[in-house]
Amino acid sequence: MRTETPQAIYLKDYTPPPFLIDTVDLDVAIFDENTRVRSRMGLRRNPAAADPQASLCLDGEDLVLESVALDGRILAAGEYVLCGGRLLLRVELPEAFMLETVSLIEPDKNTQLSGFYRSKDGYFTQCEAEGFRRITWFLDRPDVMAKYTVTLHADKAKFPVLLSNGNPVASGSEGVGRHWAKWVDPFRKPSYLFAMVAAKLDVLREDYQTRSGRTVHCAVFVEPGKLDQCAHAMAALKKSMKWDEVVFGLEMDLDHYMIVAVGDFNMGAMENKGLNIFNTKCVLASPDTATDSDFQHIDRVVAHEYFHNWTGDRVTCRDWFQLSLKEGLTVFRDQQFGMDMHSAGVTRIQDVRTLRAAQFPEDAGPMAHPIRPASYAEINNFYSATVYEKGAEVIRMIHTLIGKSAFRAGMDLYFKRHDGHAVTCEDFVSAMADASGVDLTQFKRWYNQAGTPRLVARGEYDAAARRFTLSFTQQYPATAYERRLEAEGRKFSRGAYHLPVVLGLIGPDGAELPLRLAGEDKAVGTQRVLELREDEQTFVFEDVAVQPVPSLLRGFSAPVILDYPYAEAELTHLMAHDTDAFSRWEAGQRLATQILLRGIEAFQTGKGEALGWIPASYVEAIRTLLASAADPESDPALIAEALTLPSEVVLAEAVSGVVDPDAIHGAREALIGHLAAQLKGELLMTYQALKLSAPYSPDAAQVGARALRNTCLDYLAGSATVEALALLKAQLDEADNMTDSVAALAALANLDVPERQAALDAFLERWKHEALVVDKWLNVQALSSAADTGSRVRSLLDHPAFDIRNPNKVYALVRAFCRGNPRHFHAADGSGYALAADVILLLDSANPQVASRIARSFDAWRRFDAARQSLARTQLLRIQAKTDLSRDVGEVIGRALE
Ligand code: ARG
Ligand code: ZN
Repeated sequence: MRTETPQAIYLKDYTPPPFLIDTVDLDVAIFDENTRVRSRMGLRRNPAAADPQASLCLDGEDLVLESVALDGRILAAGEYVLCGGRLLLRVELPEAFMLETVSLIEPDKNTQLSGFYRSKDGYFTQCEAEGFRRITWFLDRPDVMAKYTVTLHADKAKFPVLLSNGNPVASGSEGVGRHWAKWVDPFRKPSYLFAMVAAKLDVLREDYQTRSGRTVHCAVFVEPGKLDQCAHAMAALKKSMKWDEVVFGLEMDLDHYMIVAVGDFNMGAMENKGLNIFNTKCVLASPDTATDSDFQHIDRVVAHEYFHNWTGDRVTCRDWFQLSLKEGLTVFRDQQFGMDMHSAGVTRIQDVRTLRAAQFPEDAGPMAHPIRPASYAEINNFYSATVYEKGAEVIRMIHTLIGKSAFRAGMDLYFKRHDGHAVTCEDFVSAMADASGVDLTQFKRWYNQAGTPRLVARGEYDAAARRFTLSFTQQYPATAYERRLEAEGRKFSRGAYHLPVVLGLIGPDGAELPLRLAGEDKAVGTQRVLELREDEQTFVFEDVAVQPVPSLLRGFSAPVILDYPYAEAELTHLMAHDTDAFSRWEAGQRLATQILLRGIEAFQTGKGEALGWIPASYVEAIRTLLASAADPESDPALIAEALTLPSEVVLAEAVSGVVDPDAIHGAREALIGHLAAQLKGELLMTYQALKLSAPYSPDAAQVGARALRNTCLDYLAGSATVEALALLKAQLDEADNMTDSVAALAALANLDVPERQAALDAFLERWKHEALVVDKWLNVQALSSAADTGSRVRSLLDHPAFDIRNPNKVYALVRAFCRGNPRHFHAADGSGYALAADVILLLDSANPQVASRIARSFDAWRRFDAARQSLARTQLLRIQAKTDLSRDVGEVIGRALE
């Protein structure tokens, strides 16, 4: 039995590679039983290497080596050794040489979906982070950049499409029914950006003209028969190309840009140079199979991968500790794209929702890490909400602190200095600091410190002096991350963050007040960016004629938890009058959270059902909100966001002390039920008024209307009355799009009524041939609040519609249940924990990356009561006891038990 977290590697131990690889020529012959990979590499000693005599040791995993040749001479047995997944050469090496290896791999047996693997329609690759070593021997690290030439050979009828990065240069037939194709990528790239595909696929082709007049041949490859689901992804690609030209002056640099969709994929998508490989769920969409959020998600992922062409491919990471260099920056870019393409306010609200639901808990749990971790055992565990989402917030703060045009100048300088290189987060921050003239030294703490800082703010109004004083205190207690560094005896320092507070002051009439800080001679605007750098700082506003309500952290200007003692009336005031859409929403969330925290306590002392904790004024505020939907100027999407209460996961973060999932669920359901009862007429009226007659389109206006309509439906459905059921059934029958169907199905799945099973059966029968729709069918059942959800999810594991080998199915059912349905996952009898552990143990050897993602469900286990903790610990120990537990799961479970 293993009892420890697997061996870690450290950022401080980075050394440059002893050799560089300038060219790689791959010849890949695909057969049913295996694939033969012949690789010819041009190597030379790295002049920057620490040891000029170092020997050559190549990475390789699950490769059967047939031969090694040095400058054309086949090496004898003793001239190389294979040990621990490495190939070590034991011969004298010249300054520069050609190394040729021939190996066999078995893609049909590759269930990890890392490296070269089989999926339904053919063969695909996923090389980030360390998958290339599962294809051939290599210095598989991002600071080794080479030019690739690739020749693929396969059966022509079964795999008519042969692709790799760059440009197609030649192809032909050979042997009996076989063919080949040769691709050359003109750009140097790290091995993690390598890709190849041999499959039977349909393709949608369109051209794009860059602003300098070049033609890019765009192509979206999908499984046969799905061409009618590609148009949206293609349009998203062209919009992204245009946006990056306009906003960042960045143009596509290749003649070919291909997107290939595959149904078996561990993550969302991958930015391989010129040949992106995507999870089908991030490509395929038609109105009857995809929801509005799917359409928007596709826009964002297509944009994200496209933006990586510059922030990731042209300038890449020196080592995997720098992952946020490309991911945080690229998420920031796709967020900005989303804000420009859709509603800025709604997009920002949704992005902050994601941050709070996924990243804040990560930062508060055993896997806490800064956006640039100092160590890891398995890099795949660090494709995290922190590296991605918090990473994007850190870039956003630079944008806010130095301003939009200095940010653009910083980007230009970054590319000027580092194009074609593998660099570090410091290099990025330095470019921003140098281009703006702003000192960002202290700002770099965001890269080294973990945890969500708490910003305690207090306001004091002095009517006689017409002065409003705002004081801020930063709190940043050590997290599990620093506790581990300490236990390992490693040095680290912590200090105040440099962060922007964007604010305004709202007067009693709802108008914004002009802002003059003490020492300034006149007021400058009604919104300011205050810069915090100290543990404690005070700002004094002069000429404040009336007691204001401060609107703090507009647009969520820093990823912190704001502690400000707002009175409920002040929050209602901000909800109604703040000029910043995010802050209006935020005020509503804060108000709901304050009320729900009282409700949770009431439920714990048996006084919840009496509803004494719900103020009548709150019901009136929601009534006003609903009424505003009738105003043609209003944005229904924003109203829908405001009506959506903080999730149970987010509420658990707000609770201090022991988390009681039943009380959280009870209070939240009670508040929804009360609002539904009190506002039934308004909800019904809004629901009916928003019925659309125009044909479906995923445009902002329709999306907003459907979002609000389905939010009303959700409130109304909670009651399970005859009327509510009739409404749900009518929507299910009449819906001409997946957004409305699945909204009704999800609401019905919460109810323990006979209609539920009938609806689920009919839905599956209708959609059983659309894998992504079957995922939705699994998903609504996993997220159901009905009492029998735990046992239903358990039996769905054996349903023919489920497949544990397919990551999308596991995510739709198991991850959704474990991470999105806390009340059932944390069932008092431990059944949720046992289910998670069973799945983790089943998947650990087959697909450790997916197993590890499920293992993260245990992150918060220590926040629950002693009985639940003991049940969770039992399952954690059971997982840890597995022989040959993967490094992925081992690291997650090891940290959870630390
Ligand atoms: N670079 C990809 C993206 O964010 C993610 C790939 C992660 N893959 C992995 N196996 N961890 O666009
Ligand atoms: Zn990315």
